[in-house]
Amino acid sequence: MKRILVVGAEGQVGSELTPKLREIYGEENVVATDLKDPVNSGSGPFEHVDATDAEAMKRVIEKYHIDTVYHLVTLLSAAAEANPNKAWHVCMSSLKHVLDLAVEKNMERVFWPSSIAAFGPTTPKDTVPQSTVLEPTTMYGVTKVAGELLCQYYNVKYNLDVRSVRYPGLISWKVEPDGGTTDYGVQMFYEAIRHKEYDCYLTDDSTLPMMYMDDAVKATIDLMQVEDPVRIKVRTSYNLASFSFSPKELAEEIRRHIPDFVLTCTPEARRQKIANSWPRTIDDSAARADWDWKPAFGLTEMVDEMMKQLRKKLSA
Ligand code: SER
Repeated sequence: MKRILVVGAEGQVGSELTPKLREIYGEENVVATDLKDPVNSGSGPFEHVDATDAEAMKRVIEKYHIDTVYHLVTLLSAAAEANPNKAWHVCMSSLKHVLDLAVEKNMERVFWPSSIAAFGPTTPKDTVPQSTVLEPTTMYGVTKVAGELLCQYYNVKYNLDVRSVRYPGLISWKVEPDGGTTDYGVQMFYEAIRHKEYDCYLTDDSTLPMMYMDDAVKATIDLMQVEDPVRIKVRTSYNLASFSFSPKELAEEIRRHIPDFVLTCTPEARRQKIANSWPRTIDDSAARADWDWKPAFGLTEMVDEMMKQLRKKLSA
């Protein structure tokens, strides 16, 4: 029987992953934790826990006899640039506690997300291979590279079954992202529906890898459901891709639904610099070969689904 802990269950990913895990494994078997009150993670056991507090994490893990952890706590790229010391502390200390507790309690499996932010200006811009140069110039990216190496180290040294994917920018309608560089990909939908206009903080040709949240949740669960750990050959983090777009291309897609939608762009230096340091497209053939990863949503399907769900949400 799986006893699952989701750390950061009220964040952008946790809000959608936690209910899905509860559907699969049963409400009582999925414990949600966050600093925030439970709103989106669904009904089931919930604990307020500061993930940087090792003793508090240990208490929850022992109380619920946890054998699997999804550790989602982070500060996204722009938020991490505004507060690099906090970002390092929150991301790295919480990950280290989870990995140590997983070894101590002989846990079955750990999931931790990396990001396209692990790449940097010296990484190829297109079809980034699985193994490539990782020299990010953001604190978020630094925590992702350090985290990837730490996960691999715990696998090699302690045989801990820790698994990871590099999420692209995630597009979702349920919970808005906060403090990221790819957040515009969600904000544009809200503003298009509400005001038929949006002023983007990136140039209209800034192309970045993106993914619909349903696919990010599916990738996470598919990877974690692979029974034979030998199939998981990458122990840093798997490249993951669906589609890439620029603000101009997303606006064109939205105009299929709102023909008079107007996009303007007023680039903001901090986030533009971050976007410029990231690649345009990703090669995810290792994930496809090792654990049969395949996204369900293309750009058009994602836009149609976002419009449908957000129109419903905003008119409610
Ligand atoms: N969505 C993240 C960000 O923009 C990238 O993984 O920070």
